[in-house]
Amino acid sequence: MNTDAPPIATIDAGTLTGPRFAALPPLSLYVHLPWCIRKCPYCDFNSHEWRGAVPNHAPARSGRRDAASAASEEGSPAAADGLPEDAYVAALIADVEAALPSVWGRKVGTVFIGGGTPSLFSAASIERLLSALRARLPLLPDAEITLEANPGTFEREKFAGYFAAGVNRLSLGVQSFDDRFLRALGRVHGADEARRAAESALMIFGNVNLDLMFALPGQTVDDARRDAAAALSFAPPHLSFYHLTLEPNTLFHRHPPPLPDDEAAADIEDTVVEMLAHAGYEHYETSAHAKPGFACRHNVNYWRFGDYLGIGAGAHSKISFPDRVVRQLRWKQPQQYLAQVAAGAPVQEETTVSRRDLPFEFMLNALRLTGGVPASLFAERTGLPLSAAARPIAEATRRGLLASDPTMLEPTPLGRRFLNDLQSLFLT
Ligand SMILES: C[S@@+](CC[C@H](N)C(=O)[O-])C[C@H]1O[C@@H](n2cnc3c(N)ncnc32)[C@H](O)[C@@H]1O
Ligand code: SF4
Repeated sequence: MNTDAPPIATIDAGTLTGPRFAALPPLSLYVHLPWCIRKCPYCDFNSHEWRGAVPNHAPARSGRRDAASAASEEGSPAAADGLPEDAYVAALIADVEAALPSVWGRKVGTVFIGGGTPSLFSAASIERLLSALRARLPLLPDAEITLEANPGTFEREKFAGYFAAGVNRLSLGVQSFDDRFLRALGRVHGADEARRAAESALMIFGNVNLDLMFALPGQTVDDARRDAAAALSFAPPHLSFYHLTLEPNTLFHRHPPPLPDDEAAADIEDTVVEMLAHAGYEHYETSAHAKPGFACRHNVNYWRFGDYLGIGAGAHSKISFPDRVVRQLRWKQPQQYLAQVAAGAPVQEETTVSRRDLPFEFMLNALRLTGGVPASLFAERTGLPLSAAARPIAEATRRGLLASDPTMLEPTPLGRRFLNDLQSLFLT
């Protein structure tokens, strides 16, 4: 006999049922464009080198085998005959059309065109894509529409064309304003192009995010301070500072560069966070800093466990129905994705999130928000009563990882520092 089994009387009848939603969460749309000029040696995104690309200002390749050229030599399979821009946009439109029954009648509050490097696509393609999306999905009148761009693809007219097409927020992958680090990261652009692109993006869009990374190979606190100061000199409404991580299946993972150790990285992070706070940015999520009113609405919807339909190669979706939450994954390789869309089957995998996993999945996202979320959001977004997470909430509060305010689910400074430990308390 299994003596660990709970007595029948303690089993809540609710554990036998799935979630129940009084109202469905807000819906976002993610569109994945999977090509880049060159694969960066640290990147594990679903991005594939487009061998036909001629970077505008990419440094000429020398005979020296640096991290970037090594990464490009072993890059993922590329589109055979140049970028199939028209075919891919047509596939995205067919993909969204096939997905309409799963989000029928629901309004879309944000669109994020990510990659890869969406700015490889022409403004005309982005215009065609957005018009087709608007014709098929009810976008809210004030929808946030973000496009990710790489400074190595910057052309003023093209960026202005994106704005004219309806993109109202640009996220620029700068990574660093220092040529030494851009070279070490295998980027296709230099610091001058990053500056020019940032300046123009701010003039055209106003609503701009700059992505930077820290704890770069050989980076000191002073180097990071200079990078943060350079980023702040543009006064962008939003800044993302990511801790460079060695992701499996990347060149950096196989051949790690000399990175700052944990203590040095923590010093760098503290310095950058303090500079940004001093400049008036709210540190609202682990890596995200925004001027008041400029948090990324699309990402905040993810972190508040909202719904998202993801179209394009390898895109993930999370869609709630009145009695279940479904996750989908689309075919990952661009050519395979194109073929599968043509065959009417863009979705490779579909799973229903079990009742048991919902509390952890909710907390994994919500606890990344510095200010946490109202406790009532748990029931709204998981379709389960808060009592489903009562035990780990009590334990996290007892350990000082969650604030003791019962109306909020809010990580304490200790909880933010040991976020993985806090989140894993909700694993059952
Ligand atoms: C899809 S990319 C952004 C747009 C464009 N592809 C680019 O790189 O310019 C998203 C961001 O993730 C961050 N990132 C990518 N790989 C990372 C890693 N290994 N560690 C930390 N941040 C990473 C980079 O800051 C990058 O700008
Ligand atoms: S440009 Fe961006 S998405 Fe492409 S490989 Fe580099 S970091 Fe990854």
